[in-house]
Amino acid sequence: MKGVILAGGLGTRLRPLTNITNKHLLPVFDQPMIFYPLQTLISAGISEVMVVTGGGSAGDFLRLLGDGSQFGLKTLNYAYQVQEGGIAEAIGLTRTFVGGDKFVVILGDNILERSIRPYVEAFDAQPGGARILLKEVENPRDYGVAELKGSHVVSIVEKPDNPRSNFAVIGLYMYDGFAFDFIERLQPSTRGELEVTDLNNAYLERGLLCANILEGWWCDAGSSIDGLLQANIHAAELRRGQPR
Ligand code: G1P
Repeated sequence: MKGVILAGGLGTRLRPLTNITNKHLLPVFDQPMIFYPLQTLISAGISEVMVVTGGGSAGDFLRLLGDGSQFGLKTLNYAYQVQEGGIAEAIGLTRTFVGGDKFVVILGDNILERSIRPYVEAFDAQPGGARILLKEVENPRDYGVAELKGSHVVSIVEKPDNPRSNFAVIGLYMYDGFAFDFIERLQPSTRGELEVTDLNNAYLERGLLCANILEGWWCDAGSSIDGLLQANIHAAELRRGQPR
C-alpha cells in the first residue's frame, strides 16, 4: 500500500500566516503541520510516500522532510502541482508513483487522534474500490457531506447549503488503481477544480465505495484560524500524553 500526502494550495483561509509560506509547514504545537499526516500514514504501516505540493514554498518540503529516512520511510517522493486544479487533479499526479497498487491519500492539514491501521487493513482486505472515513461535525456546510441510509452512503455533496446529514467526509481516502481512470473523466466544478467528492461519487455510483465512522478526534487544521487553534490544542494534549 502506498501513501500520498496532498500539501498544495494557497491557504487563503489562513492569511496572513500563509502569505509567505505553505500552510502545511505552519506549526501545530511542537511540529510542522505535515508531520501529523505523515505519522498517520506511517502508523498504518505505509513506508512509500509521495508528497504533492505547489507554489513558492515547494523547496521547503525537501529541506524539511528530505528523503524520509529520518521518519524510517523506504522512499519519499515529491510531485509538483502547477495550478490550483483541485484535490482530484493532485491525486492524478501520483499515477506513476502508485502504479497498480492500492493507496491511501491524506490531506496535509488533516490531523487524527488515532491510528488509521484498522481502516487500512479493512481496505486491504476488500477486493478493490474505495473507502472513506466519516465524522459527525457541527458545521457540515464546510465539508463534503455524506447522506446515509442506515450505514450506507447514498450520496456525497461538496460543501452543501442544505446538508442532508452531519457526517463530514474527512480528508483521508483509500483507492484502488481505477481512481486514475475516474479522474481522467472528471469535469471541473463551478470553482474550476477537479473535486475529490466527484471522484468518491464515481466509486459510489458503481457500488464500490465503503465508509467507516472515524473513532477519535479529527481536525481540519487548515480550514480556518479556529481550526488551526483547535488542532494546536488537540495536538498539545495528544503529544503530552493527556487523553481527552
Ligand atoms: C476538502 C474536501 C472536502 C473534505 C475536506 C476535509 O475540503 O473538498 O470534501 O470534507 O477537505 O478536510 P477543503 O477543506 O480543502 O476545502
